[in-house]
Amino acid sequence: MNLDASNLPVPLVQGEGTLSQLGSRVAGLGVSRVLLVTDKGVSAAGHLEPALDSLKACGCDVSVFDNVHANPTELDVLACVAAAKNHGAEALIGFGGGSSMDAAKGCNFILTNGGAMSDYWGVDKATQPMLPFVAVPTTAGTGSECQRFALISDSTTHRKMACGDIKARARFAILDPRTTLTQPPFVAACTGVDAVAHAVETAVTVKRNSQSLEFSYDAFRRLSANIHAIMRDPGNVIARAEIQLGASLAGAAIECSMLGAAHAAANPLTAMCGTIHGQAVGIMLPGVVRLNGEDGDAAAAYRDLTAAAGLPFDGTDRGAVTALADWLSALLHDLDLHRPLRTLGVTREMIPRLSAGAAEEWTGTFNPRRLTSDDFARLYSQVLD
Ligand SMILES: [Fe+2]
Repeated sequence: MNLDASNLPVPLVQGEGTLSQLGSRVAGLGVSRVLLVTDKGVSAAGHLEPALDSLKACGCDVSVFDNVHANPTELDVLACVAAAKNHGAEALIGFGGGSSMDAAKGCNFILTNGGAMSDYWGVDKATQPMLPFVAVPTTAGTGSECQRFALISDSTTHRKMACGDIKARARFAILDPRTTLTQPPFVAACTGVDAVAHAVETAVTVKRNSQSLEFSYDAFRRLSANIHAIMRDPGNVIARAEIQLGASLAGAAIECSMLGAAHAAANPLTAMCGTIHGQAVGIMLPGVVRLNGEDGDAAAAYRDLTAAAGLPFDGTDRGAVTALADWLSALLHDLDLHRPLRTLGVTREMIPRLSAGAAEEWTGTFNPRRLTSDDFARLYSQVLD
């Protein structure tokens, strides 16, 4: 890495084969009873065996909870809490995509502090210490391994609650690119685009600072240089490692910088129409870049990001905005994620409700321009047909 790793919010154990270090590093936390939180897809992919072997070889008594669903709700969290109590867990491992890590983090809140997830919606609302948490991402996208936030959906409304606490952050994360090799191409594309969106949005928010920008730029360099390679050659472990690290660095940028309007626009699409998060973000992002880019400060920030990644542009702020938005649109086509929203179940009649929801999203408050529901309506209309 060419950045100062000591500034990372979570220590990263990175490289091919590092999964074998899971047991010794967990044992090094001084715990022995461990709950590994995952989903059935990950367990069917065969990644659990080496992880469990490593844990058992180091004296850990490990139990597996593999019932996490995509976009986990409080019901997933409560089932996980029951499993953790039943096992007498002293530590939690989130093993899988963002959903598994989010469910494990959510479980940690309720297990140690009681109450309901909605009690922790916001930042630093937990008063009691939490169990040690370890993250092992097997997708490369959310960057959840570097964040204090658990994203848990309300079981009824499906609105995502972002529950953040410094105590919920992982003690360390293991990034073994071999765990990402079995991702289906559609999953790799969606998570990859999500990571790209994290790098792009964090580079321009009102909360960005010199440290978060370093993460955003490094993430975008690695992601933009390798995302086509992993789609062309899924077995390319070197490119997979770069994408996995890029996604984590983008996640580290979110810790400080938060996200922007593409995520604010995507979340209601997921809640109302079930659109896959990465695809929804990817569809909305080019329009958001163009709209934000009408603001001079945001355009300059996009120019710095575009230059940092070495994407070609004419050297002007305006030219960088156009080049970046065009590159993002082309990426969506290249990854076969480009779809008119209408083909994903969105109708023109839904746009007022989607727009009102997007304008209320907390994440939108960090966007360089405060977008109104009318702005969001225009953004949705641009990609409806
Ligand atoms: Fe995202």
